[in-house]
Formats: sequence, structure tokens, C-alpha cells
Amino acid sequence: MKLDPALEALHALLGERGFVRGPAVEERYRLDAVGRPGEAPLALLRPADTGQVSRALAICHGAGLPVVPQGGRTGLVQGQLPRAGEIVLSTERMAAIEAIDADAGMATVQAGVVLQALQERLDELGLMFPLDLGARGSCTIGGNISTNAGGNRVIRYGMTRELVVGLEVVLADGTVLDGLRPVIKNNTGPDLKHLFIGSEGILGVVTRAILRLVPKPGARVVALCAAAEFSQVRALLRHARGRLAGELTAFEVMWDSYFSRAVQVIGRAAPLAPGHAFYMLLEAAGPDSGCVARLEGMLHDALQEGMVSDAVLAKSEGENARLWELRDRSVEVSRVTVPIVTFDVSLPIAAMESFVAQLRTATLAIDARCDMVVYGHLGDGNLHLTVHYPPERPEAASAIQCALYPLVGSYRGSVSAEHGIGIMKREFLAHSRSPQEIAAMRALKACLDPKSILSPGRIFE
Ligand code: LAC
Ligand code: ZN
Repeated sequence: MKLDPALEALHALLGERGFVRGPAVEERYRLDAVGRPGEAPLALLRPADTGQVSRALAICHGAGLPVVPQGGRTGLVQGQLPRAGEIVLSTERMAAIEAIDADAGMATVQAGVVLQALQERLDELGLMFPLDLGARGSCTIGGNISTNAGGNRVIRYGMTRELVVGLEVVLADGTVLDGLRPVIKNNTGPDLKHLFIGSEGILGVVTRAILRLVPKPGARVVALCAAAEFSQVRALLRHARGRLAGELTAFEVMWDSYFSRAVQVIGRAAPLAPGHAFYMLLEAAGPDSGCVARLEGMLHDALQEGMVSDAVLAKSEGENARLWELRDRSVEVSRVTVPIVTFDVSLPIAAMESFVAQLRTATLAIDARCDMVVYGHLGDGNLHLTVHYPPERPEAASAIQCALYPLVGSYRGSVSAEHGIGIMKREFLAHSRSPQEIAAMRALKACLDPKSILSPGRIFE
């Protein structure tokens, strides 16, 4: 079969290792981490370096071929899944950790580096890239940057945006923007890297990055606590922030609906008795074991003052990891029963209790069999909610979304805290972005990608 001339040119540029035509593309390139299907791509590109990305995009741009960049495909909003006729551009062959500067606290990496591979390399050197999330074993730095990933340590280190020093990006027409300057301070006009961080691949393809590193903490400790009232959860957050200051690296909350399922999924004895309304997972990290003593003292006082009803402190790194597993396996925990509709929202912490109660009432009014699982990065104002609905009521999914998003908007929250918009959430964008903001985003898209070949239809049509 004769290939279209543009596909021929891509094949000639990238060779056998870098070009796979549509029918031969393995199925995994059109599935996300939970098995949601995309459509058959026209071809798969696996460029080896920035030069190949640039030349490949120039060819696609010339021919008007749409391209969807892919990292580890762990995104949860279908932004990375190809649609029919699109070309997948995978960064999987661009997986080099190019340089580590321990004095400056910076690493230069290619976009396809898997987060956990970077974490492990740095660990050996006594360094840490602070980003951490459940998908660490598959997600890539390029995907983390394109989605401005959040995860488990945002309360201490911020989102990915705060951890990027410089970026190299290839624009839709193949132009390379080289922003790889190893300097923290650089007030030389608008900071272009921020256009590409979190814009989900619609403005350019991230190919390399300079990342910010910190010294690896010498000690860390995890605690799990339980409380009966949301007011206690809020009091504990204030108390922990005050007592641990910069040593508080996580403050995660699991509602009972989540915790009981997590215990079931993991299949070990529960570290705390089930039946409490809220479970809080806290982590402290610091240069030495002082942080362990401070977390213990803080918890002791929290118990005395009635902020928590019960608590357990991990006694070893193995116990730290086992407590984190309750939280890390959220994707499985949410899918114990299906069908589901999932949410990732930001809200003022003060509004969370009434938000969850209002949503429970609304979902039960849609169908009395709806069941809601709630958890999240509470210290960051980020809730994840999974609503299970009866399989014989498929229309319930859209009714639940139509109940939830206006409620988020009414609290001036965000319809996506950390997962992005992709295709899945684009019809709800207007609940947290004004028409003027959306018009400005469209103007940026039209300016940087006038033929709309990069991730078309993601974020907005
Ligand atoms: C988590 C993912 C779903 O926090 O964002 O577990
Ligand atoms: Zn999350």
C-alpha cells in the first residue's frame, strides 16, 4: 500500500524505529491507564531527539496533519488518547537524564524520562525532585509538565509549575524555543515556559526541561489519624501547619467511603479501625529525625485537644510506604465497582463539607442507588470524588456532572484541580473560566498553532 507523501516523509525521517503506520500501532498507544479507549491513529512517531521532533512537526504542519503528544498515558481526562486520523507523537525514546548539578539543585532531562526513574537516580545522589504521584512508575516528565501535575507534596513544594526552571518546546510548525537556561532569576519579559506548563500540549511539545531539585530529606515519617467531624480535620490542618511549618509534606484526607474500599483493595488488616468519618494521612520530612519527634508531639497534642480520635505513627520506612499505599492506589480504589463518574475539583477548604453534603443530596435525588467515594489533597484544597451509579441508568452520569460543576462554580472553585481538561471536561470549562479568559486562550492557540494541528479539540473545540 502506498503511503501518503507526508507519511512517507515521516517514515524517511524517523526510520523503522521511529515510525509505525496505523494498522501496526500497538493497542496500548490508544488506551489510558484505566483502559479508556481512543481511536486508531494514522501513525505513531517515536522521535529520538528534539531535532527529529522539530522536523516531524514541520512535516505534519505542512500537510495539516493533527498530532497528539504522548508521555506515559496516565492522564485521566482523555487528552492523550488519539482520535481517528491523528498522529501519536510518543516521547518514549527521549528518556535521557542529561545532567545533574547538585550545587545548583538542577537536573536537565528529556521529556520521556519516567518520574520514578528520575526519583531513583536522584535518591542515589542524596537529591530529590519533589514531584510525586501515584502514577510515578509510568508518567513522564513531559506529561507532568504539560499537565502541571500536582500530587502528594504540593502543600510543601507546589505544583510542577514551581519546579520547572527552563523548558525546551517545539511549536506546531517545528520552531524550537530554547528556554534551557540554568538560572532561577530571569526577568527578561514574559516567562514563556508558563504558557506550555499545564496547557496540555495544545500550544507546543515539551522536549527537554531543567528541573529544580532539593536535598533529599534525611528523615521522613507518615501518620494516619481519624476524626469524626470535618471541623476536626480543619483544626488538625491548622495545627499541623503551625507545628511542622516547612516539614509538613503531605496532608491527605480520605472519607470513610474511600478508606473502607482502600482497605479492601489492599487486603491487609486496617491500620486504624474502620468506621471513623475521616482519615488523614500526614507526612513530615526534614534533614534529621527531629521531624519525627515534632510530628509525634504534634499528634500527641492533637489527641489531647480532641482534634483527632485515633492515630498511628509509622515506625519504619516500610510502614511509611504501607500507609501511603492506601492513598496511592486511588485509581483502583475508585473502580471497585463501575460505572463511575470521576471528579477532580478545587474548593475553599471552608466550603468542602457543605459541598460534599449538597452533592450527596443531588446524586441521591438523581438515583437513590448512587454512592460517592471522596478523598483528596485536602491541604491543597483539592478533592477527588467518584460517584458510582447503577449500570441500568447510563444517563445518570451526565446528570451527576450537571449537578456538580455548577456547584463548584458557585464556590468559585475549579472544575479541574490537577488532572486537566482534556476532552472529558471541556464542556464544563466555563464553570471556572470566564468567556474573556477562554477567548484569550483561543487567541493564544490561534497565534502559536494557527492550523490547529497540536492536540486539536483538547481543552476547547
Ligand atoms: C490521586 C490522583 C487520582 O490523587 O490524582 O490519587
Ligand atoms: Zn490527586
